[in-house]
Amino acid sequence: MKVEFFRHSLGKDEKDSLLETLDGLFLTTGPKTRQFEKEFSHYLGVNHTVGLSSCSTGLFFTLKAWGIGAGDQVIVPAMTFIATANAVLIGGAEVMFCDVDKETALIDLNMVEDLLKWNQKVKVVLPVHLYGQMVDMKSLRELADRYHVKILEDSAHCIEGERDGIKPGHLGDAAAFSFYATKNVTCGEGGAVVSNDTQLTDRLRILRLHGMSKSAIDRHVKYNHWDMEVLGYKGNMYDIEAALLLPQLPKIERQWQRREKICRQYENAFDKVGIDFPRTLPGVKSARHLFTIWAPQGKRDAFLEYLQQQEIGVAVNYRAVHLRTYYRETFGFKPSDFPIAEEIGERTLSIPLYPRLEDREVDYVIDKVIEAKEKLD
Ligand SMILES: Cc1ncc(COP(=O)(O)O)c(C=O)c1O
Repeated sequence: MKVEFFRHSLGKDEKDSLLETLDGLFLTTGPKTRQFEKEFSHYLGVNHTVGLSSCSTGLFFTLKAWGIGAGDQVIVPAMTFIATANAVLIGGAEVMFCDVDKETALIDLNMVEDLLKWNQKVKVVLPVHLYGQMVDMKSLRELADRYHVKILEDSAHCIEGERDGIKPGHLGDAAAFSFYATKNVTCGEGGAVVSNDTQLTDRLRILRLHGMSKSAIDRHVKYNHWDMEVLGYKGNMYDIEAALLLPQLPKIERQWQRREKICRQYENAFDKVGIDFPRTLPGVKSARHLFTIWAPQGKRDAFLEYLQQQEIGVAVNYRAVHLRTYYRETFGFKPSDFPIAEEIGERTLSIPLYPRLEDREVDYVIDKVIEAKEKLD
């Protein structure tokens, strides 16, 4: 049986919405994007959403809007996708990597506090709600307030998540989301930043269009000259993307329930045979974006190989960022700098998780993962 790593759930609703948009006037950022921004804000319970071309752009533009650049430091977990750290570097600031917790793989808040204590140049903490589980935002907010730094949440994995009743964007100064091809809500490529700070979101709307003071929708009723007062770049969400995203919003909870059920099945089965995986803590509703297992030390690649031979799609999320060649060669990072992130990076492998996964496919994946463990033990 062949089980793809991911299959999207876009269907008739999304096709109809797309066709309606193609029949209309606006292909670029227009009424659909505005509607998506309004509905996404409502879903999360935040004041503003700014639709962008990707989460990476959202991280970069937000740091830019806050004036973060050369001479500033930003704290980033070493266990994340490279985008989190790259957004800091592209903006000219310095990445201060931080190790992660060995049970959850989330940024270690004790280490964040140490970094804040000893580094006066830190301006922003950039936590990642990895795999869909939120970082303890209440504690992080307290820390950030004590040290007068901002929080930018990398919420690429976490639309549906909650922790202690808090959702992404509630306690952070801003949160960035991804609608990339394999994300829980997708339009192929896309992203957004949410915030309750009107000044920030007004700025982001300008930055996403090269710093132009008026967008196409502002100019179309009656032509108005636009000006450019700040340096921005191209990074806007457009109506074709928003048309695909809008019909998915009412289905978010139903899709989440299916993934939650699959995760519970994985967890119960793997617990019984001693296969390790990151733990979801009490009081947390994980968005359940990725399901990763931790293979025994030194066995991950053999595990990957075995599952692929069984025609199961797999991925690695992620190998520690500071050990990628660019980071090692440019900044001199080396093995054992962030040992927990490194260990997770050597053991982690992700298995299929999406609403269209059928029960018999879930059973097949479970059987083959257990078989791999038995063979490789
Ligand atoms: C944790 C994390 N941050 C940021 C990103 C970047 O998202 P995008 O591809 O929308 O730029 C991703 C994408 O996979 C991610 O997984």
